[in-house]
Amino acid sequence: MKILSIETSCDDAGIAVLEIKENKNSPEFRVLSNIIASQIEIGKKYGGVYPMMAKREHQKNLPIVLSKALKKAKISNQKPDINLIAVTSGPGLEPCLWTGINFAKELSLKLNAPIVPVNHIESHILVNFLENPPSYRASARQVKFPAIALVVSGGHTQLILVKKIGSYKILGETRDDAAGECFDKCAKLLGLGYPGGPIISKLAEKNRNPASIRLPRPMMYTKDYDFSFSGLKTAVLYYLQKNKKANKKEMAAEVQQAVIDVLIKKTIKAVKDFNAKSLILGGGVSANQELRKQFKEKLEKESPKTEFFVPKPDLSTDNGLMVAIAGYFNTLRHGSEQVKKTVGWKNISANGNLRIS
Ligand code: KG4
Ligand code: ZN
Repeated sequence: MKILSIETSCDDAGIAVLEIKENKNSPEFRVLSNIIASQIEIGKKYGGVYPMMAKREHQKNLPIVLSKALKKAKISNQKPDINLIAVTSGPGLEPCLWTGINFAKELSLKLNAPIVPVNHIESHILVNFLENPPSYRASARQVKFPAIALVVSGGHTQLILVKKIGSYKILGETRDDAAGECFDKCAKLLGLGYPGGPIISKLAEKNRNPASIRLPRPMMYTKDYDFSFSGLKTAVLYYLQKNKKANKKEMAAEVQQAVIDVLIKKTIKAVKDFNAKSLILGGGVSANQELRKQFKEKLEKESPKTEFFVPKPDLSTDNGLMVAIAGYFNTLRHGSEQVKKTVGWKNISANGNLRIS
């Protein structure tokens, strides 16, 4: 079976083709292609993502991304043999989501293939179930449950209890800005450009000073699993107002460390409270090298039996492949005949605020 997947929830348009061979014990995946059209240059120019602008770019880019994805997968453009189309239906920017969904619907008619809608947060989690990505051949990873998943992106910061694939409970989430949003806003305040996460992390790497700046760690010691990052951004603003010549490298390192400290504290607490057998990271912020390193070290120390999963950095940020994997597991859950019958393309609509539980 071949799945073609479409991701347009934010400013990246991704299309992947995934081939799945069902084996006795676990499926064997072959990543035939995973193409992305990023709008990073536009984001840099305008200092962020604007939904209507991003939507127009997706409309322009999707046909190009599709033909590249089919070509790379060595699938005929005239008569592609695709069995299922997976598309992100939310959460995300609604105009952008609709572009992907409408594109999927047109393709579904053309190819006579059913569509399965995918939750963006679930796809950030399930991409971890691909072994050795993005090698041509890969099997499904055996992740033990219960697992704790931390999804940290530009739009979300959620701690999720994963009882099994398809069974989720949001334990906590941010009450204001997402962690990625905090990186992006702090970078803007520091005059560093967009997107903030990767820029801050690169600059932080160059910092050789011991931390002399101390920023707050909002909600770090509260008993719940919630987060708050807007205070961190405000603290950066005040600091910069008072210290016109602030050392940007030092600032970047401290912003990064403040975010990491809070994320690790709450996540490890959840891992322990729920006796999690696995810890799964996902979302753009999980591409951060320092965060990955410190998470691994802390987990080994605090809960050594818990296995640690994090995607390759290019699969942490938005991509088409994660949608294909989630589409596959959704289909397994519902049965492919059921998908054909019930997930008719007319019923699929975008939901910017879609929740995983
Ligand atoms: O998951 P994603 O690609 O898109 C959304 O679903 O939002 O996440 C994008 C976010 C941006 O805020 C970006 O600044 C952040 O992920 N990000 C990073 C890094 N790479 C991307 N944050 C920290 N360190 C990074 N290396
Ligand atoms: Zn995302």
